[in-house]
Amino acid sequence: MEIRINDLIEKKKRGEALGKEEIDVMVRDYTAGAIPDYQMSAMLMAIWFQGMTDEETTYLTLAMADSGDRLDLSSIPGIKVDKHSTGGVGDKTTLVLTPVLAALGVPVAKMSGRGLGFTGGTVDKLESIPGVRSELSEEEFLRVLGEVGFVDAAQTKELAPADKKLYALRDVTGTVDSIPLIASSIMSKKIASGADRIVLDVKCGSGAFMGTLDSAKELAEQMIRIGRLAGRKTAAVISDMDQPLGRMVGNSMEVEEAVEVLKGGGEERFRTLCMALAVEMLQLSDRRCDNEDEARSRIEAVLKDGSALGKFRDFVRAVGGDANFLDDPVIPAKYKKDVYPVAEGYLTSCNTAQVGLAASRLGAGRSKKDDVIDPAAGICILAKLGDRVSLESPIAVLYTNKEETLPEAESLLREAYIISDEKPEEKPVVLEVIREGSGK
Ligand code: URA
Repeated sequence: MEIRINDLIEKKKRGEALGKEEIDVMVRDYTAGAIPDYQMSAMLMAIWFQGMTDEETTYLTLAMADSGDRLDLSSIPGIKVDKHSTGGVGDKTTLVLTPVLAALGVPVAKMSGRGLGFTGGTVDKLESIPGVRSELSEEEFLRVLGEVGFVDAAQTKELAPADKKLYALRDVTGTVDSIPLIASSIMSKKIASGADRIVLDVKCGSGAFMGTLDSAKELAEQMIRIGRLAGRKTAAVISDMDQPLGRMVGNSMEVEEAVEVLKGGGEERFRTLCMALAVEMLQLSDRRCDNEDEARSRIEAVLKDGSALGKFRDFVRAVGGDANFLDDPVIPAKYKKDVYPVAEGYLTSCNTAQVGLAASRLGAGRSKKDDVIDPAAGICILAKLGDRVSLESPIAVLYTNKEETLPEAESLLREAYIISDEKPEEKPVVLEVIREGSGK
């Protein structure tokens, strides 16, 4: 019997589950332009209200993963482990994790994105290193992976074009915030990019998609179940995004902070999250350890003996960059401004998205797709939640080459923080680790 989109919309509206063939046809025809946006919008809204079963979500994920090219990593020996963050402010963990895992003998083929809106993107951070090229051909991508042990670059192929089209439609139809739709969107791209195992950093809080721990857990568990059904073992770390991660927000400033961790130091919360993610990646690889403590000490060892930093240098060189820049990775900005709090007291909460927006206004991000990033622009955060602040001490320093952006960025930043007389309870950066079998 012919599968017609009108019938599928009716079926989903009634809360019935769609079958594999029905989802395959729907995704194939929508990608090819044979289903118009108005019908797909109705379907997305029906999914938003009715949800999807695990099987449906997996069929949708695989149909989207198969809508374009898939990257074939079979020429690289060993289990390839990928990681994905749901997006945040000051999130530079990829810059640390990829060389650490490579130093431990675990190949990592990472395709990263650029920042948009208030969230940063790893490609922009890497390109702030003089000479680094992120747009690699597929051959170069595989060559760098083979030579260095890891690669981190912009997407080389048309991966999951169905997701690209559906995501744009969701964005304008009020259907982004649906757990099966987010989960299938993320996992389709991970599956198409060829990894055997996947570690997810699911951000939770005022600078993330998922505002609450419960919703972040639900999303993480859903993605782990898709991973299991699709034959990709997956683990998730739920991490706090109720304040920026680490001290730096801005592209070269974040490279500087990542290099601090690769040199064995670094800000504590940022370092803690890198360690938690690296442990999960190592434990999913074929280099896994008997227990978590051993995994930690092997990770500490490659940070201490300089081999992780060495891998990062090799990578920078392999993609045309200046590895000497990593000795002192600072790009000076013309203008600098201290930001003082609006009142005295304890920093109680932070509108993290607003901090990201302030950095973007300074030149660290884009408001339109083709805006040019200023690698030197950004914010150095001097106080974290729970710190007592006074009117005499700055809570942050702004850096930019565009002086006119300073007043708006300053007020966005000052107003991002709520200050009160009561010291808030400290929240750890790692809120929960969910492994296959520990969820529903
Ligand atoms: N990131 C994605 O790739 N897709 C979503 O739907 C949400 C976040």
